[in-house]
Amino acid sequence: MSAVPQPQVSKERKDFYARIDTGHVAPLWEVLHELVTPKPKTPCVPVVWKWDTVLPWIMESGKLITAQEAERRVLVLENPGLRGQSRATHSLYAGLQLVLPGEIARAHRHSQSALRFIMSGDGAYTAVDGERVTMHVGDFIITPSWSWHDHGNPSKEPIIWMDVLDMPIVELLDAQFMEKFPQQSQMTTHTEGASFARYGNTMMPLNYRPRSHTSPLFWYPYERSREALATLARSLTGTLSLEEVLDRVVRHAVTLFDSGVASNASSSPLRERFKLEAAPWAMCRCTWNRSSKGSSNSSAQAMNPLSASMSVSLVRIRSPES
Ligand SMILES: [Fe+2]
Repeated sequence: MSAVPQPQVSKERKDFYARIDTGHVAPLWEVLHELVTPKPKTPCVPVVWKWDTVLPWIMESGKLITAQEAERRVLVLENPGLRGQSRATHSLYAGLQLVLPGEIARAHRHSQSALRFIMSGDGAYTAVDGERVTMHVGDFIITPSWSWHDHGNPSKEPIIWMDVLDMPIVELLDAQFMEKFPQQSQMTTHTEGASFARYGNTMMPLNYRPRSHTSPLFWYPYERSREALATLARSLTGTLSLEEVLDRVVRHAVTLFDSGVASNASSSPLRERFKLEAAPWAMCRCTWNRSSKGSSNSSAQAMNPLSASMSVSLVRIRSPES
């Protein structure tokens, strides 16, 4: 076999190719250099979609078709190297979706997973598996594979977000399918923000058992993300080594410990022991209820749930010894 182009093809070979072509068979040596290349290759090309360019077009689409008629009123961002394939890259679909005031984008579910970044507008909602969240600019929302989702805009302004789906990957596996919900909108069965409260606050619900392989957290409000990133940025502007950072974390936890979880221990030996045994303590399972029953560590819990749970783990380890 040859991994280089075949410049001359003899009549004998051409005749051979023609005969085997009738049986849907082809010679690898004619295409091997294209199939297996020395370096990775992609048909994608670099491209930027300018907001100022696309915004008038997505708004114009709102005058041409309703959300109900379109199912999803989206302008697809097509990579110039993949025109006609509804792909922003070789593996991802992306598009800008518009929902006008008063409109509903009906409920459906599909095998593809989706994410969306809110780019413009305030006050519209997305519902995922029975829970609605109000969307604001910068929010990040996911609709995992096969989860019911619909959108509505009860606000007075249009909302636009960017959808991204793993459509090309699912297509590669011949696993594309969808289902429409019987009604326009799904029933709301959970309080708004319940998933975030339950899974988005660094606390593991007691006896938690995953109901699926997808994340139970589907809404990442920009306000919280921004706050976390700003805090990280401030914390990383210094010149602390990793060891110094870990030391500060340990000292913070020890401070919580000293504040009432085990007040009969002296602080200095305790700190040394904490450094030695921090990992087992952190790995030890404990329950939030157990920590609050009859203990005086409410201040520790209020300050930092993660540190507080680690401290409670320490109490459990020490109990059999005392
Ligand atoms: Fe969808």
